[in-house]
Amino acid sequence: MRPALSDYRHLASGKVRDIYEIDDQTLLMVTSDRISAYDFILDTPIPDKGRILTAASFFWFDELGVPNHLAGGPTDERIPGDVVGRSMVCRKLPMVPVECVARGYLTGSGLADYNATGAVCGVRLPAGLGESDRLPEPIFTPATKADLGDHDENVSLEQVAAQVGDELANTLRDTTLDIYSRGTALAADRGIILADTKFEFGQAPDGSLVLADEVLTPDSSRYWDAATYRPGQVQPSFDKQIVRNWLTGPESGWDRHGDTPPPPLPDDVVQRTRARYIEAYERISGLSFADWPDSADA
Ligand SMILES: Nc1ncnc2c1ncn2[C@@H]1O[C@H](COP(=O)(O)OP(=O)(O)OP(=O)(O)O)[C@@H](O)[C@H]1O
Ligand SMILES: [Mg+2]
Repeated sequence: MRPALSDYRHLASGKVRDIYEIDDQTLLMVTSDRISAYDFILDTPIPDKGRILTAASFFWFDELGVPNHLAGGPTDERIPGDVVGRSMVCRKLPMVPVECVARGYLTGSGLADYNATGAVCGVRLPAGLGESDRLPEPIFTPATKADLGDHDENVSLEQVAAQVGDELANTLRDTTLDIYSRGTALAADRGIILADTKFEFGQAPDGSLVLADEVLTPDSSRYWDAATYRPGQVQPSFDKQIVRNWLTGPESGWDRHGDTPPPPLPDDVVQRTRARYIEAYERISGLSFADWPDSADA
């Protein structure tokens, strides 16, 4: 008999995920079908997005082969039947309070920092770089977590060291860059650029790092299609571009810079976006999403 979600204490909800406590050592992370765009959570969910992102995290945890927080498989008996396929049973760990970002390309807040200072998070870069340029080598650009609704704040390695100590700060940087480079190599073989990504780490009782949270999903990373990569301009997002184009196009009637929330998405936009998420997962993993469990497998 599987438990019901209401048997577990609800601990927190982010923009997209809900966290429950299975027991004092174990968490249930449930990924919803919610999607965000332009800093809004849209009213229209993308069916199966939660399962696709969960499948991607499981794939990467397995592929990367570094210590991770998983404490059970995708159909673990502790997962309530109605959220099988979009849930992870995880070891509850003390989290390192740093968003560990790796960037291989210059865009977003990295580009803004670079344009203002010639550096990103204190890492000096050559002059003359522009939008979406590939960096000479990937860089560690940590951020501190902002409260819900705020943007994370970019910080330097020195600021991280002041918070967690030199040794841990250096280990975070090295581990982040190592995992990122392994991820990008695999994705590149399959025609996808992982322009940047964010990891979160917990700590085992001996202090060693444990890869936690979600990993290398489209929600924690920028996925670009290598076939259409053109530096010098903002790259289309592999997963979200259909939504963004519709929202900012004439049909939506929405003003991105006004203060009304975006309108509901039409069904064809929803269906095409769902297909993009599945394509990203299947291309990277080489697996068929049709084989991923859902509540019918409970
Ligand atoms: N193994 C773990 N043990 C304890 N906490 C974890 C573990 N893995 C992830 N977390 C934490 O669980 C939370 C996941 O929440 P989530 O990402 O949904 O929300 P958020 O980070 O508050 O908001 P956002 O929607 O901006 O990401 C984060 O605070 C993350 O640090
Ligand atoms: Mg988060």
